[in-house]
Amino acid sequence: MKALIASGGRGTRLRPITHTQNKHLIPIANKPILFYAIETVVEAGIRDIGIVYNAESKEVPEFIGNGSKWGANISYLPQQKPGGLAQVVGLAESFMAGEPFIFYLGDNMVVGGVKRFIDEYERSKTNCFLTLAQVKDPERFGVPEIKNGRIIGVEEKPKSPKSQYAVAGIYLYDKHIFEAVRSLKPSMRGELEISDAHQWLIDNGYSIGYTEITGWWKDTGKPSDLLEANRLILDNIKPRIDGDVDKQSDVAGKVVIEAGAKIVNSKIRGPVIIGKDCVIENSYVGPFTAIGSRTQIRHSEVEYSIVLDECKILSVHTRIEGSILGHDVEIVESNGKPRVHRFMIGDQSRIEIT
Ligand code: G1P
Repeated sequence: MKALIASGGRGTRLRPITHTQNKHLIPIANKPILFYAIETVVEAGIRDIGIVYNAESKEVPEFIGNGSKWGANISYLPQQKPGGLAQVVGLAESFMAGEPFIFYLGDNMVVGGVKRFIDEYERSKTNCFLTLAQVKDPERFGVPEIKNGRIIGVEEKPKSPKSQYAVAGIYLYDKHIFEAVRSLKPSMRGELEISDAHQWLIDNGYSIGYTEITGWWKDTGKPSDLLEANRLILDNIKPRIDGDVDKQSDVAGKVVIEAGAKIVNSKIRGPVIIGKDCVIENSYVGPFTAIGSRTQIRHSEVEYSIVLDECKILSVHTRIEGSILGHDVEIVESNGKPRVHRFMIGDQSRIEIT
């Protein structure tokens, strides 16, 4: 069994962060999303991993490396132009060399790992095995039609979904998926759809099994999904304080403070992670907040947010909440009169003033 991880795409729904950073490298609880995918497949016993990346940028291969830090061998498969998930699968045919594999979308997160899915797939002796999750908005996903416990159809982003399930971004295949992929034509949105490949397998007499993901699963496509994933991971974090906390500060709950970070006269309410060499002074950092390295927060309050490296939040008197701040972002309050907002903001930023 090998693994194929997708890390391409443009991440349009996460702009402006994704103007300068691949969405799969955005940190959740201070760890890039893609690391969770790699850890999950390694934990399931897989060592040979292919990662498909967008050929326009070497960011992913450079950042992830050859896999040795996970005890894995990672090969990189460039995708010249985003052309859909079925195209991503097609790129991996020679890498798989006839072996069955797990296809894992690098922006999906699942609690509890994927070993159970692999075991169930192997026992099922099917050609293709899908993982399904009940969702409120199936029209955003691939949606199966199920009759008498069997999948009889799969549609991509249907207007009238035939079930309440999303096909999650964790799929198991044998080599027949490549026949399916080769037979596809681009969809209305100009992509080779993975759901069409599944439909092709059904139409051509191949067997499709499935299991339900009963625990937590998330496709981190939207900003609110990132915050929600951050919340869940932080909720399970092991507390550890390697930085300095002065006597005037009050730290409670599950809190990680990395080496070199300084907490001065501040209140930290976990679950929270504060990265290396941060300074938190005369401030409040509330539950479900992840702060990257070398960030400064002074005379301010932050809660339920993701703040990346080297930010400055200085003397902001309204609490910052439900926010995602990219690298090197500054939010400062000046004392000048008249009271005004002064912005220097990149393309497609979102600011909410309440
Ligand atoms: C993709 C797939 C869809 C699947 C989803 C899971 O959607 O096309 O079938 O349900 O991932 O995350 P996309 O992220 O391209 O909207």
